[in-house]
Amino acid sequence: MTLAVRIDAMARGDAASVAALDGPTRMDEAHVQEEAERPWTRAWVAREESGGLVGYVITWHVTDELHVLNVATHAARRRQGVGRALLAAAVDYARRARCRHVLLEVRRSNAPAIGLYRAFGFFAMGIRARYYADDEDAIEMVLLLDPETGSVVTHPDEVRLEGTEAH
Ligand SMILES: CC(C)(COP(=O)(O)OP(=O)(O)OC[C@H]1O[C@@H](n2cnc3c(N)ncnc32)[C@H](O)[C@@H]1OP(=O)(O)O)[C@@H](O)C(=O)NCCC(=O)NCCS
Repeated sequence: MTLAVRIDAMARGDAASVAALDGPTRMDEAHVQEEAERPWTRAWVAREESGGLVGYVITWHVTDELHVLNVATHAARRRQGVGRALLAAAVDYARRARCRHVLLEVRRSNAPAIGLYRAFGFFAMGIRARYYADDEDAIEMVLLLDPETGSVVTHPDEVRLEGTEAH
């Protein structure tokens, strides 16, 4: 089932809802606001028809790269196409801005996120050993875009991801 959502640029007033959606452990309201105000930040939110915020994505646009800092869907609205719609907004922006790479780090155990990125054509470029505070490895994933046509350039994984299907 696909949830009908509208994707909008993140607005000033969204920080509290974004922080609430993320739970207490990730980005608090001040942190979301700080990210939203950086000149190089591009961020979008997903809203239900009722106006309720059900997801967000925050990216940094630096030269010809778009770096995805986080993408999240409300826990009760997952697997209904929200994450895909948000990432599509970010990738569409990258195409319009003629970026060559969309980059991100993801926990090795985060099969839902890795599945989402795979669906867009991201490949595994490297491993950052014990990148997270709890010592879990990060997988660096990249989507290559042709800056002229905006089409995805397919690329095989450069590292093996054994163990990522475990959760
Ligand atoms: C990762 C996350 C954003 C996905 O959002 P979502 O709204 O549930 O994703 P979608 O419904 O748009 O799924 C799109 C595709 O991603 C993949 N995917 C999503 N959830 C998946 C899961 N649990 N297992 C495997 N693949 C999954 C599938 O390919 C899916 O397409 P399909 O449903 O047609 O098979 C969501 O699980 C989330 O918020 N997780 C917590 C925050 C997080 O870990 N963010 C990533 C930080 S790097």
